[in-house]
Amino acid sequence: MTSLRDDGPAALEWAARYLERVGELPVLAQVEPGEIRARLPRTAPNQPEPFSAVLRDLDEVLLDGVTHWQHPRYFAYFATSSSEPAILAELLAAALNSVAILWRTAPASTELEGVVLDWVADLLGLPDGWHGHIEDTASTSTLAALIAARIATGRDLVVASDQAHSSVEKAARIGGMRSRVVPSDDELRMCVDRLGDLSDTAAVVATVGTTAATAVDPVPEIADTADAAGAWLHVDAAYAGAAMVCEENRWAFAGVDRADSVVVNAHKWMLTPTDCSLLWTRRPDDFRRAFGVVPAYLRTPDHEDALSLSEYSPVLGRRFRALKLWAVLRCYGRSGLQAHIRGGIALATQFEQWVADEPGWELCAPRRFSVVCFRLEGRDAPNRSLLERVNASGEIFISGTVLGGRYVLRLAIGQMSTTLDDVQLAWDVLRREAAAL
Ligand SMILES: Cc1ncc(COP(=O)(O)O)c(C=O)c1O
Repeated sequence: MTSLRDDGPAALEWAARYLERVGELPVLAQVEPGEIRARLPRTAPNQPEPFSAVLRDLDEVLLDGVTHWQHPRYFAYFATSSSEPAILAELLAAALNSVAILWRTAPASTELEGVVLDWVADLLGLPDGWHGHIEDTASTSTLAALIAARIATGRDLVVASDQAHSSVEKAARIGGMRSRVVPSDDELRMCVDRLGDLSDTAAVVATVGTTAATAVDPVPEIADTADAAGAWLHVDAAYAGAAMVCEENRWAFAGVDRADSVVVNAHKWMLTPTDCSLLWTRRPDDFRRAFGVVPAYLRTPDHEDALSLSEYSPVLGRRFRALKLWAVLRCYGRSGLQAHIRGGIALATQFEQWVADEPGWELCAPRRFSVVCFRLEGRDAPNRSLLERVNASGEIFISGTVLGGRYVLRLAIGQMSTTLDDVQLAWDVLRREAAAL
């Protein structure tokens, strides 16, 4: 039988070796849809197999089908990092298997979660005393906030800009709410003067660091308007929130102290593996009104004194996610997190300069953090072909989007192993493939 003592060293060695060699693998999985499934048996084995068989098939069967988010030249969507302290903590969390359905089923997990959310609030310059807890993803965090807003306001309309993440629309649909889209300006920020009448609005969602171009909505003005109309303000800082650990980026959090709820994903730019989405609110009682369903089989004598985070969340069973974030915060400290953010922004700034200086290429949106939106001048079709060509090379992986009706390429920096050489290589590959079009 498999045991940690006997099989653990090989698994740890696999993980360590993987991180050492991931940069040599093709960053985007070079497989066709269905290919990996076709390599796998149709049924589970009848008899137990050794763990070594799992490791062998990870190499021989699955690895070809892995797109390597840990690769130094992963530049697509939002690049993320799973750091070594957090990887080890995930192992320990699985060993403990704490299930925080109630405070008493997981006191350490519940209380550590409160502590790390306070620590991160302090690191990011959020107000003291907010209630914070962890959800799996920003999609769930935003869903929870919008449901709380609907119940608190008795209204059912969600208002967000045309640059808001699709999770806002999805949350409105799940919650049976209506949604209205507000246009954005030429820098892709919500047009506050187009917010219109908010008297039937449950929540306005402002984004700090939009998905396509990392634009920052004018939160102070949005807060004024939402406040005057009695609407809830939810701030989606899923990507850019982590950058607030550096004072020089705090301009982007102006007005966020007036939000009713804020989401920041630790699993985006805070060295923590998916999933770990941080949700704070100044109105915990409204969350508890929305989610505090405690049946007889979960009622305990300490119910009112002992905080059960499941009463603030759409889910009951909650895993020990705080452990990996605690490991990151302790093993990197404020200075380590700042170095990670500053390093990413410096590399993006360098890439932006190369594009700006190169005839035939153009920048497509102001760069706010570590994402550069750019394209070949001219038509969309060559840009679409260019994206496919560079990704097919396996040397880099970038993504695209549409801004102002034009197709643009995005280079997102956030992987901790990315160096200037990797960004230079990306630029070389892009120019090489553009020349070959
Ligand atoms: C601004 C923003 N909000 C929300 C999300 C959704 O994040 P998750 O995948 O954690 O649901 C993203 C994902 O990239 C995002 O960019």
